[in-house]
This record gives sequence, C-alpha cells and structure tokens, in this order.
Amino acid sequence: MSRLEIFGPIICLVLTLLLGLLLTKLGKPYNTVLFTIHKLMALAVIVLTFRRILYLVKSNGWQAALVLGCILLVIGIIGLFSSGAMLSIGGFNHKLLRSVHIVANISLISGFVILITRGQLWG
Ligand code: HEM
Repeated sequence: MSRLEIFGPIICLVLTLLLGLLLTKLGKPYNTVLFTIHKLMALAVIVLTFRRILYLVKSNGWQAALVLGCILLVIGIIGLFSSGAMLSIGGFNHKLLRSVHIVANISLISGFVILITRGQLWG
C-alpha cells in the first residue's frame, strides 16, 4: 500500500473535523459547498479506513484491538451520519443532535486512537 493510501483516512478525518467546526461557527443556513465537502470527506474517511482494515484483516486476521476499534468506528459512523442528516434537514432538537454528533465524534476518534496505538492501522 502506498503512503497516501495509509495516511489518507487520517488526512480526510482532520479535514472533516475542521470543516465541521467551520460549519458550526458559520451556523444555519449551512454553506452548501462546505456542507457537501464535509459529507464527502466523511464518506472518504469511512471508505479509506475500511479498505485499510480489510487489508489488515487479510494479512493479520482479527485481533482484539482491531475488533474493539471497529466497534467504536461503526458506532461513531452511525451516530455521525444519522445526527448529521437530521441536523441538515432541520425541525429536530438542534442542541440534542449536536450533542449526539459530538459524542459520535468521540467514539470515532477513540476507535482511531485504539487502532493507531495498538499498531493496527499504521503498525
Ligand atoms: C467522519 C464523519 C464526521 C465527522 C468527523 C464530523 C465532524 C463534525 C464536527 C467536529 C462538527 C462540529 C461540531 C460542533 O462544534 O458542535 C460537525 C458539525 C456538523 N456536521 Fe459533521 N462530521 C461527520 C459527518 C457528518 C455527516 C455525514 C453529516 C451529514 C450528513 C454531518 C453534518 C454536520 C452538520 C450539519 C454540522 C453543523 C452542526 C451545527 O449546526 O452546529 N457531519 N461535524
């Protein structure tokens, strides 16, 4: 795997986080360009991460840290996409959805931290 393929997920994650903070700062109505890039980057994080995970599973099999990291990633992704979609549609409890988005971010980032520190993602 090339260096870009290995570090791609983390670069996209940092960009997604920065764009998310910018979206919050600018508020509603969301800037369409920023919102679209935020979503596309989020999708890129998922695709690139699971590609890398699949590669690791094929070469090393399932390790405990990999399983735990994957569970946290999946919980984070479900929370981020559902709360993100509801935030953009509007009409729901904005404060609550923002909290869900933040908690889901913590789950996702914890998953990354476990995978990285246990040498699973970039060992
Ligand atoms: C890897 C996935 C994602 C990450 C890491 C992420 C991260 C963030 C962060 C850090 C914020 C700022 C939160 C705050 O300061 O309160 C944010 C805001 C936001 N995100 Fe995401 N996000 C992701 C996916 C998504 C998706 C898929 C959507 C839409 C379907 C979305 C929609 C939004 C919206 C609408 C806001 C602005 C919320 C507000 O009004 O304060 N996000 N995101």
